[in-house]
Amino acid sequence: ASEAEEKDLVIIGGGVAGYVAAIKAGQSGMKVTCIEKRGALGGTCLNVGCIPSKSLLNNSHLYHQILHDTKNRGIEVGDVKLNLGAMMKAKETSVSGLTKGIEFLFKKNNVEYIKGTGAFQDEHTVAVNLVEGGETTVRGKNILIATGSEATPFPGLTIDEKKVITSTGAIALQEVPKKMVVIGGGIIGLEMGSVWSRLGAEVTVVEYLGQIGGPGMDADVAKQAQKLLQKQGMKFKLNTKVTAGDAGGEGVKINVEAAKGGKEETLDADVVLVAIGRRPYTNGLGLENIGLEVDERGRVIIDQEYRTKIPHIRAIGDVTFGPMLAHKAEEESVAVVEYMAKGYGHVNYGAIPSVMYTHPEVAWVGQNEQELKAANVKYNVGQFPFSANSRAKTNLDTEGFVKMISDAETDRILGIHIIGPNAGEMIAEGVLALEYGASSEDVARTSHAHPTLSEAFKEAAMATYDKAVHY
Ligand code: FAD
Ligand code: NAI
Repeated sequence: ASEAEEKDLVIIGGGVAGYVAAIKAGQSGMKVTCIEKRGALGGTCLNVGCIPSKSLLNNSHLYHQILHDTKNRGIEVGDVKLNLGAMMKAKETSVSGLTKGIEFLFKKNNVEYIKGTGAFQDEHTVAVNLVEGGETTVRGKNILIATGSEATPFPGLTIDEKKVITSTGAIALQEVPKKMVVIGGGIIGLEMGSVWSRLGAEVTVVEYLGQIGGPGMDADVAKQAQKLLQKQGMKFKLNTKVTAGDAGGEGVKINVEAAKGGKEETLDADVVLVAIGRRPYTNGLGLENIGLEVDERGRVIIDQEYRTKIPHIRAIGDVTFGPMLAHKAEEESVAVVEYMAKGYGHVNYGAIPSVMYTHPEVAWVGQNEQELKAANVKYNVGQFPFSANSRAKTNLDTEGFVKMISDAETDRILGIHIIGPNAGEMIAEGVLALEYGASSEDVARTSHAHPTLSEAFKEAAMATYDKAVHY
């Protein structure tokens, strides 16, 4: 980078938030530089998050299905063996293909990519400690903070990513542990717990709250998810808090007690997965050099146009407010560049879907029943089980349901909650319905191909404003 040239936009962080903003800025004709320290683009999501975890979820599901779910389909298989090394290789192939794809897109859109750690020197200058050694500085008219998040540590347990792991260790274990304890029954705990449980580990999930799934999951769905995961062999300790851990010996000892106090117990594990949430990452960013502050949870404070109190410095993605999701970061990337280039942009935070990629999948958008009750909103609920759906029946994959909630007065859809096969793909229809302010009757009167799983979606809509046909 030339020290004299001032870029239109300098982006710190090449995760989903940063790289998408870089491409969009390049497309709008801005001169843009993206600084990333990990040596590869794509951030947490591509390197150690969404992509590697979904590769392992998919392949561990296939393995588990071949072991337990083929005979009744008329398929007889011989010896089935796990080759964990090859499964990890398949994961790495997916990851490296995608991260290299972004480098290509950077070139195509004239984005300058600097491998290094960026820190604010002043309000327009970022000093970069280069990965390959040495330093440089870049100046920007606009600067975007997109430095993401990191796993929240558990006090008293030192992460070594071997015995005491975060999700980063959980996507890279070299052998299947005999016993795994997962602290936190949120999305990471359930997805990564599923992977290792399917591959043969005895997995116990310890969750502080009385419900699994983390924030936002509808209580009916969470209950069903727990039941189905238990059937697959996972164990749960709800309303339970971890009080201490000791990784000093051969394995790890985890002390737990009832959340409200009371009975204590010690759990033994070979591996402990700490999955109690993630926190914004601003270490070494030099925010103090420009007088920028973070809130009590470490989030960079911004206004509706993603501006910090220094108006040409903005922040998006995991490092600031909102759900820590890749597609949320992506929406913000487009909007923030539009704000810079045109003065306006738009993200509908009421229509950001959540998906948990277990089997069956869980997906939702909008509000859940508990939230609506708390807000004193009157609503109707329509539910349709996959056991009454023809495609789910032909696939012998009938567990779960679609639950739709609409406003009692206007029938406008307020929330959609799915647990079942392909829920993550199916929720897109729900997001579109919410985005367009559809009523449940609008969806019910829309033709859905037969036989498809999405007919369960239509029937849930029918059940919301009227009656389902097939149940
Ligand atoms: P990040 O992806 O964290 O990227 C920030 C980047 O900035 C990093 O690469 C970091 O190295 C770099 N950086 C930080 N500081 C500096 C600096 N000073 N200088 C230069 N570079 C710096 N979300 C989903 O929507 N779907 C999923 O299925 C999903 N699965 C997940 C699975 C796991 C195991 C985890 C951990 C997360 C998952 N997420 C998922 C969440 C998703 O990964 C994040 O929401 C997303 O990565 C946020 O993007 P970001 O760009 O804001 O931050
Ligand atoms: P989470 O917030 O989803 O769940 C954490 C869980 O840990 C909560 O249920 C909480 O009650 C529990 N908990 C907290 N402290 C505890 C303690 N001391 N003892 C026992 N339980 C405790 O966080 P998680 O699972 O770590 O994931 C972080 C974020 O990563 C998610 O919120 C999500 O934004 C993102 N992610 C998204 C995925 C997806 O979209 N499929 C997959 C994986 C991660």
